[in-house]
Amino acid sequence: MNILGIETSCDETAAAVVANGHKLLSNVVASQIDLHKEYGGVVPEIAARSHLEVVNSVIDKAIVDARLNWDNIDAIAVTRGPGLSGSLLIGTLSARTLSLIKNKPLYGVDHVMAHVYANFIDPIKPQFPILALIVSGGHTQLAWFESHLKYRLLGQTLDDAVGEAFDKVAKIIGLEYPGGPSIAKAAQGGDSEKYALPRPQLKTKYDFSFSGLKTAALRVAQKEIGQDYNFPSFEISKLLSNNQVNDLAASFQKAAIDYLVSKTKLAYEEFQPKTVVIAGGVAANKHLREELSSQLGKNIDYAPTELCTDNAAMVATLGYYQSKSTNADDPLSLKIDPSLSM
Ligand code: KG4
Ligand code: ZN
Repeated sequence: MNILGIETSCDETAAAVVANGHKLLSNVVASQIDLHKEYGGVVPEIAARSHLEVVNSVIDKAIVDARLNWDNIDAIAVTRGPGLSGSLLIGTLSARTLSLIKNKPLYGVDHVMAHVYANFIDPIKPQFPILALIVSGGHTQLAWFESHLKYRLLGQTLDDAVGEAFDKVAKIIGLEYPGGPSIAKAAQGGDSEKYALPRPQLKTKYDFSFSGLKTAALRVAQKEIGQDYNFPSFEISKLLSNNQVNDLAASFQKAAIDYLVSKTKLAYEEFQPKTVVIAGGVAANKHLREELSSQLGKNIDYAPTELCTDNAAMVATLGYYQSKSTNADDPLSLKIDPSLSM
C-alpha cells in the first residue's frame, strides 16, 4: 500500500511516499529557513504564502521520485495539527482536493505523533512496548506506546519546549535561526563545564521545565558582559566574544541534554521498554544521541536526522497505521486543529 504524505505545519513544505508503513520511496522537503532567517524565527504569513507557492510541485516531485503515478497511490495522509493555522490550511486543502479528484482515501494525522512514526521507517524496527522521547520546537514529552497508536503520556514540559529553548538561547547569544543546529555547531568549539546552569527539579517525575534554564543562560550572558538583569537581551550578542558564545552554547546544550537524558533514563529503568526512540527536530542532536546511548548502556537505532526534523515520510507512515485501524476522514470536512495535542 503506497501512501502519499503531505506536511505543511510550520516552515517546511514536504511530501513523501512510503510503502506499507516502512519502505521510503521518496522524501521531498522544501525548507523555508532562508526566508525566515532575517526575522530570527518563523513569520506565519510568509510561511503560508511560501507553502502555497511550492506545494503542488513538491507533491508532484514526491510521486515522480517514487517512480509512481497517481494510479499506484492508495491513500493520502496529511498533517492536520498542531501547527500554524495558515500553514496547516495549505496542506490540508491540497490533500482534501486531491483526495476528491483522484478518489483516494484521506487520513488527517497528528504531527507530533507522526514524529514518533519516523522511527518505523526502514531499517529501524522498534519493538513494543516503546518509550518515546519527543523533542521538537513545540513539544517535549515522554510517551509510552503499548502498541500502534495506543499510548499514554508519562510527562511533558510545563512551560517551553526544549527546541524553543535552543532557539531562544541561540537568539540571545547571536546565533542564526534555527537555533538548535547553530548551538550544536558552536558547542563543538566551547567548554561545556564553563558555566553552571540549572537542571530544574519538579514534583512530577517525568515532566520537564525549560524556561528557568533559558533565563539562567540569559543571566550568565548578561553577567559575562558586565551588565545586570535589566540589560536588554537583544543587545547582548554584539558584546560577547566568540569564546563566550561557544562556551555558553556548549554549557546550555549540556544542561538541556543531561536533563532530557536523566528523565528518559528514569522512565527506562522504571518501565523497562523493549525499545527507546527519540523523535522531533531536537532528536537530530548528536550529543543527545551519544549521551542517551551511553547513559542507558544500550545501542539505540536512531532515525536519520532528515527524518527527525519536519518531513512527510513520517506523516505517510503514521497514515498507514491509521488506515489499518480507523475509517478514512471525509475530504469534504477534514478540519485543521492548530492546537491538537497527543
Ligand atoms: O520537529 P521540528 O523540525 O519542528 C517542530 O515540530 O517543532 O523541530 C524543530 C526544532 C527547532 O527548535 C530546532 O532548533 C530544533 O528542532 N533542532 C535541533 C537540532 N536540529 C533541529 N535542536 C538541537 N540540535 C539539533 N541538531
Ligand atoms: Zn515537527
